[in-house]
Amino acid sequence: MLIEWLTYLTTPCPRHLRAMGYLREAVGIESRYRRHRRAWAPHLEKSHETIRKAIEMSGGGETVVVLGAGLVYDLPMDALSAAFKTVQLIDLVHMRPARRAARRYPNVKLVAWDVTESLEAIAEGRAEIGKPERYLDDPSISLVISANLLSQLPISPMSYLEKRGMRDEEAEEVGRALIDRHIEYLSRFAVPVCLITDIEREMTALKEGDEWAYVVTALLDAELPWVGQEWFWDIAPRGEVDKTYSVKNRVVGIPDISVAEPSPPSQR
Ligand SMILES: C[S@@+](CC[C@H](N)C(=O)[O-])C[C@H]1O[C@@H](n2cnc3c(N)ncnc32)[C@H](O)[C@@H]1O
Repeated sequence: MLIEWLTYLTTPCPRHLRAMGYLREAVGIESRYRRHRRAWAPHLEKSHETIRKAIEMSGGGETVVVLGAGLVYDLPMDALSAAFKTVQLIDLVHMRPARRAARRYPNVKLVAWDVTESLEAIAEGRAEIGKPERYLDDPSISLVISANLLSQLPISPMSYLEKRGMRDEEAEEVGRALIDRHIEYLSRFAVPVCLITDIEREMTALKEGDEWAYVVTALLDAELPWVGQEWFWDIAPRGEVDKTYSVKNRVVGIPDISVAEPSPPSQR
């Protein structure tokens, strides 16, 4: 608790992002990782595997851009640093593990950027969704990775807007637009794009000795246009959120969306 509090006080983060809860969430993820290191290991390994495949398919090169780099636990840093001249780790806030990676690997750069280009407006209560263009025409980029980011994009904006009186349905429309715009943004790159994202959350509850499972969308019902390898991320084993239920995320890993199999029309 004391470590979390100190981290919260000492991590640089713009005021509007603090107000929207991003720093609190980042501190929370770090603590959850410490508590569930073993349960998270298979998901992190599958993410590494997908990114290693993406590096191989891209052939390496000048610059790799990682969107939602976060704590860098799901990134094979040795492989990224060896394959590219520059590794850009993009996030809203850079927690200690990312800052440590930037010290350890001289070619790793930390870039603070809101990939939705919408959060300043949302912080002021305006539901204006940006249309990011950054990096699209940058000839030095050889690979783009969206790393366990897509499903996270709407969470803080929706809860922030709801707390300020926006109707749930309206806030959900904003959240859905943030997801759709990120998919569209990734689709516009002419270079390989690796996408790892959770697509569903599966809750298993113990009720009077029986197990009940129910599944909810992690992408506000947005369908990905591509399919890839799927696995489960045991994100909240029983006891983390509540002692009666656990949460698993169904995750998909796609090394390069431009050559991925399209999802069947019925799923879109
Ligand atoms: C679940 S974490 C991703 C996991 C991360 N790759 C790791 O290993 O820790 C989601 C990350 O997305 C970042 N994020 C959320 N919304 C963002 C936005 N609009 N722009 C940039 N990063 C964002 C969060 O700060 C967080 O670090």
